[in-house]
Amino acid sequence: MGQARAEYVIEYVTDFDDPRLADYTSLRDVELRKSLEAERGLFLAEGEKVIRRAIASGHPIRSVLTTERWLKPLADVLGGATVYLVSDELMSRIAGFQVHRGALASMERLPLPSVSEVIGKATRVVVLEDIVDHTNVGAIFRCAAALGVDGIVLSPRCADPLYRRAVKVSMGAVFAIPYARMADWYAGLGEVREAGYRLLALTPDQGATPVDRVKLGERVALLLGSEGDGLSSRWLHEADEAVCIPMSPAAMEAGVDSLNVVAAAAIACHGLMRSSDWSS
Ligand SMILES: C[S@@+](CC[C@H](N)C(=O)[O-])C[C@H]1O[C@@H](n2cnc3c(N)ncnc32)[C@H](O)[C@@H]1O
Repeated sequence: MGQARAEYVIEYVTDFDDPRLADYTSLRDVELRKSLEAERGLFLAEGEKVIRRAIASGHPIRSVLTTERWLKPLADVLGGATVYLVSDELMSRIAGFQVHRGALASMERLPLPSVSEVIGKATRVVVLEDIVDHTNVGAIFRCAAALGVDGIVLSPRCADPLYRRAVKVSMGAVFAIPYARMADWYAGLGEVREAGYRLLALTPDQGATPVDRVKLGERVALLLGSEGDGLSSRWLHEADEAVCIPMSPAAMEAGVDSLNVVAAAAIACHGLMRSSDWSS
């Protein structure tokens, strides 16, 4: 006989100040959320697809916040979770924005692997230096997961891939691709090189090697720089080769001298990371 499946438990919540909603407070206040999530070891997944992916990747559910209408599509994956059921009005008031497919789940964070574990198992990695925008981090994870990258390393100042906005933009790719955070910006790249990676620094500098003429190695790390300043001179200096995506001379003349970091990540991953096994 099969084992009986645990059934989720519904608790009706009608009061905005109900303490059971504590995991869901101040959803639009990035700074407050960052400290609250770190303190409680949680993150929020939004919408049915992303919640399913978070659960499938082994993150335990703390609770789910949803409305009558959006509970059903999720019902089969909730196990014994507690579901706080609220009205549409209360949902909008708690979130302060239109919640994607009316469901938020508070999930437990799992311990992050170390940099050496991530780069030890991978051969194609992306290394992000001080990318502070959650949308950019989420979108880079999505490109990377789609285009053959098997590990991501973040410099200490990069935005949290498990912040709600990053998780949402990545469409759950943050659960599909192993990542780690460097403890030390200064020595961090050295560890990647010592693991046998060829370090390619992506820069808009049009004097660098064009992306289609780059020599690859068995292990390749693409370094992407911050939205404002780009890669630091230390990382540029430490790289084995500086690589550019050629820009139209007319654009350069008009002052469009770089790409958004997500667009650069997509082009570079497509050109340098995909495997001939699946792209021919
Ligand atoms: C908005 S750009 C930063 C621009 C900055 N002023 C600079 O000079 O690097 C953010 C990142 O995207 C990547 N990037 C942008 N345009 C690129 C291009 N044409 N070729 C290669 N990488 C590019 C680089 O990694 C860069 O650090």
